[in-house]
Amino acid sequence: MTRKIGVIGMGNVGSTVAHYIVSSGSADDLVLIDTNEKKVQADAIDFEDAMANLPTHTNITVNDYSALADADIIISAVGQIKLQDNAGDDRFAELPFTSVQVKDVAQKIKESGFHGVIVAITNPVDVITSIYQEVTGLPKNQVIGTGTLLDSARMKRAVAKGLDIDPRSVTGYNLGEHGNSQFTAWSTVRALGRPVTEIATERGLNLDEIDHDARIGGYVVFRGKGYTNYGVATAAVRLANVVLNDAHEELPVSNYRKELDTYLSYPAIVGRNGIVEQLQLKLTDEELAKLQTSADFIKTKFAESMQ
Ligand code: 2OP
Repeated sequence: MTRKIGVIGMGNVGSTVAHYIVSSGSADDLVLIDTNEKKVQADAIDFEDAMANLPTHTNITVNDYSALADADIIISAVGQIKLQDNAGDDRFAELPFTSVQVKDVAQKIKESGFHGVIVAITNPVDVITSIYQEVTGLPKNQVIGTGTLLDSARMKRAVAKGLDIDPRSVTGYNLGEHGNSQFTAWSTVRALGRPVTEIATERGLNLDEIDHDARIGGYVVFRGKGYTNYGVATAAVRLANVVLNDAHEELPVSNYRKELDTYLSYPAIVGRNGIVEQLQLKLTDEELAKLQTSADFIKTKFAESMQ
């Protein structure tokens, strides 16, 4: 069975996603779609040049939505925000631009007959994931956003730095909106075999500072180079591989939570058909309140975007 991925939007993020897929040999077939025909054709040639020095081969198709009909996954990296358009450091500011583009793309995906899993990166990703699900009509479990898989990585980086350990040795989650209302659920975070809340004082960790750094991490990079790409692209390809391999891995991704009636990031088991099983965390009252606040933000913005 061949592994087929579509990448829609070949800007900084989409081209990094595609490069990671080609260089890691994660797909047998790759469909690249972008409104800039000249650029995406050149990307395809560039990737074929790269393959002459790679151990794997990827068949590349360009700007053909019909080729998505039998794709396993579509990764949406549509949307290109400029620094000056987002001075307020709020991903919701991108919604007027990206919601228009995404509704058009989602309709074309629906018409292609695609019946796989959508992995949305496009911001504000929780609302955009909701729009993809609403317009394509795909089952909610088959439409996922990268969400706080990236923010949890940023939290792990900060905790790991404070403890002088590898970020992969920190477990736990940021939850909620991939944006300003997200929060580190410290009740879930462990390192060195113990809850981080128990070792923070003795190890000099400022948990509020770490929570803040994870939340604004994207904007630190954004200010330095005008966009982010490596962190989010790696999160998206990790998620795509978990789907392709039917790995049933637990990941904090944007998925539809019925009790909150919205997409937001909360850990779930991910496999071939997207969300296999949703977790029920034992959160503190404070964490539950933050989750509800985040859910309310996302729901309001989604309703506005569909008017
Ligand atoms: C980030 O935080 C692009 O929203 C993404 O890097």
